[in-house]
Amino acid sequence: MAQREDFPFIHRLRVRWQEVDAQKVVFNGHYLSYLDVAMSDYWRAAGLPYPEGMSHHGGDMYARQHTLAYHAPAVLDDLLDIGVRCDHIGNSSMKLAWAVWSDHRLLVTGEVIYVHTSLATRRPDPVPASVRSQIQAQAEGRPVTQLRLGRWDELGTAAKAVREIVFVGEQKIPAHEEWDADDAQALHAVVLNGAGLALATGRLITMGQPAGQARIGRMAVLRSMRGSGLGRQILQALVDAARAQDVRTVTLHAQTAARRFYESLGFIAEGDAFDEVDIPHILMRQDLRR
Ligand SMILES: CC(C)(COP(=O)(O)OP(=O)(O)OC[C@H]1O[C@@H](n2cnc3c(N)ncnc32)[C@H](O)[C@@H]1OP(=O)(O)O)[C@@H](O)C(=O)NCCC(=O)NCCS
Repeated sequence: MAQREDFPFIHRLRVRWQEVDAQKVVFNGHYLSYLDVAMSDYWRAAGLPYPEGMSHHGGDMYARQHTLAYHAPAVLDDLLDIGVRCDHIGNSSMKLAWAVWSDHRLLVTGEVIYVHTSLATRRPDPVPASVRSQIQAQAEGRPVTQLRLGRWDELGTAAKAVREIVFVGEQKIPAHEEWDADDAQALHAVVLNGAGLALATGRLITMGQPAGQARIGRMAVLRSMRGSGLGRQILQALVDAARAQDVRTVTLHAQTAARRFYESLGFIAEGDAFDEVDIPHILMRQDLRR
């Protein structure tokens, strides 16, 4: 019998109206979709956001075989806990056990075999060593990412990769507006996974600012990693670095959509919103002497 404590990763979701069938229970076919949602979160928890975590190595994971057993039904509004555990990594394949609970009731148990496949040939390809070690680290509760602080010559390539995707690609900010002279003198923060894939970034500018002041900017997290705490980690590291340099006040121009994110970390909005690169922004400030 599957036990929760044997699953180092649990994803929780709530049964929605459209997932319940004429029998007033979750339709059996939906459990593979539930597993897929849990798997996306599992990869994220392992620092291997999908698809970048795999495509970075020129590969992808394909489901090759599913087996599952239904033990009890779920009903509308049940909170389901979906446990996922990697049991074996072969040459190109990996075998995962999964199970679904609602409170103490075991509803479903299953097993899935994925095959790591080359993007170029669509043929099986060995699971990369760094993917194996990320999965192992997640299972053992060790860190799956690393935060680094440094100058542009050291971290520029990594910071640039994230900003290119988020600001230039996703937010359509013209490249000539994204890259400026501040990068060369700023302190950059980058979060990388164990394979060196950059997941998040931000920068702190002290030069050219009024005495005792610094500016934070270019905060970006890969879409697939948002909501995992990386933005908080970057912002905290930059604020700590400012404090260590005896900065008294940190300001930033927040995109208004991210205002609550900065508020949750102690920044306070000032004045009215204004347009910058065609996106509404607001000035925010944090007094570090408090
Ligand atoms: C804004 C951004 C940097 C936040 O990073 P993130 O990794 O998603 O944030 P975290 O997971 O660390 O979240 C920290 C907290 O802020 C909250 N939060 C994050 N983004 C938020 C948003 N846009 N609105 C409201 N709250 C938000 C989270 O819910 C979390 O709250 P909690 O601690 O109470 O659970 C990221 O979403 C991003 O890159 N967005 C696109 C680019 C962008 O807007 N950059 C900012 C330019 S000013």
